[in-house]
Amino acid sequence: MAIQWTENLAVGVDMIDNQHKGIFSRVNNLLNAMAQGKGRDEVGKVITFLADYVVKHFRSEEEIMIKNNFDGYPSQKEEHAQFIRDFSVLKKEFETSGVTSHLVIQVQQKLCNWLTNHIGNEDKKIGAFLKMKG
Ligand SMILES: [Fe+2]
Repeated sequence: MAIQWTENLAVGVDMIDNQHKGIFSRVNNLLNAMAQGKGRDEVGKVITFLADYVVKHFRSEEEIMIKNNFDGYPSQKEEHAQFIRDFSVLKKEFETSGVTSHLVIQVQQKLCNWLTNHIGNEDKKIGAFLKMKG
C-alpha cells in the first residue's frame, strides 16, 4: 500500500511541496523495501535516509515560518518534534527486531497517516497564511 501525494495536499510553496513529494517517495521506498523482504542493511539505509530527510525538511519549513512570523509556528514545532520522537521509536523497533509485521503496520498507519494529516491540516495553513500576507 503506497502513500500518494495529491493536489489537495499542495501547500502552495514550491520548496515545501517538492520536499513533501520527496518524503512520500522515500516512504514508498521504505514500504517497498520491507514488502520485498530486502535485507536488514538495505531497509536500515532507507530508514536512516528518511529520518535525515524529514529532519532537514522540518528545519526548512520552520525557517519559512519564523521568517514570516507565522502564528502557527509553536504548534507546528511541537508536531514536528512529536513526529521525530515517534519515528525514532520505530527506528529502535527496527534495530531491535528487524522488519516485523508490527513494524510494517506501524509505518503504514502511524507514519503515513501522520504525514497526510499534518500536511493536509497544518502545513496547508502556512500556504494560506503566506497568500494572505501577500
Ligand atoms: Fe509541517
